[in-house]
Amino acid sequence: ARLVVLVSGSGSNLQALLDACADPAYGARVVAVGADRDGIAGLDRATAAGVPTFVERVRDHADRADWDRALTAQVAEHKPDLVISAGFLKLVGTDFLASFGDRYLNTHNSLLPAFPGIHGPRDALAYGVKLAGATLFFVDAGVDTGPIVAQVAVPVLADDTEETLTERIKDAERRQLVDSVGRLVRDGWTITGRKVTIP
Ligand code: GRF
Repeated sequence: ARLVVLVSGSGSNLQALLDACADPAYGARVVAVGADRDGIAGLDRATAAGVPTFVERVRDHADRADWDRALTAQVAEHKPDLVISAGFLKLVGTDFLASFGDRYLNTHNSLLPAFPGIHGPRDALAYGVKLAGATLFFVDAGVDTGPIVAQVAVPVLADDTEETLTERIKDAERRQLVDSVGRLVRDGWTITGRKVTIP
């Protein structure tokens, strides 16, 4: 199966996928990595693995819809079976969802529907929850609202800082991402309303 991964930052989730794809039994390969900005470690990781990259910056476009069309075209060129947002910090638009809405995954660092948005671990800590975690879901038109594929929980410890909790979540998140993407590409999936079924 062909994976296109979108990143905006360090790309440790991308790296976990690249490592998993090195084993032919995994059944997938990363055919391209896209970003919304230059100069990020995620793009370097792709290049180091010999994977082509592309960058589509919002500010190079007349408006957000134009950027969305360009991103959609770039991704479509690589004919992905799955598109994976792994720390991609842009919300895609209607064109992108029309093309990839049933095969665009995002991994988020909270147990949704709690703590959507970009500060999952910080918000979990501030709220005082005792379990945090990560959620893998198919992206819909909302913010962190789409049908859930998998969730993993980790404890919040008494002496946690934002950094220590973030790292504990990311560790579990990477394993979940690799496991779930492997299952999806091997077994397929159906989305019925909010329910994702992997046969
Ligand atoms: C992940 O924890 C993801 O949930 C959050 O940003 C992080 C991306 O990390 N949105 P990385 O770039 O894969 O290291």
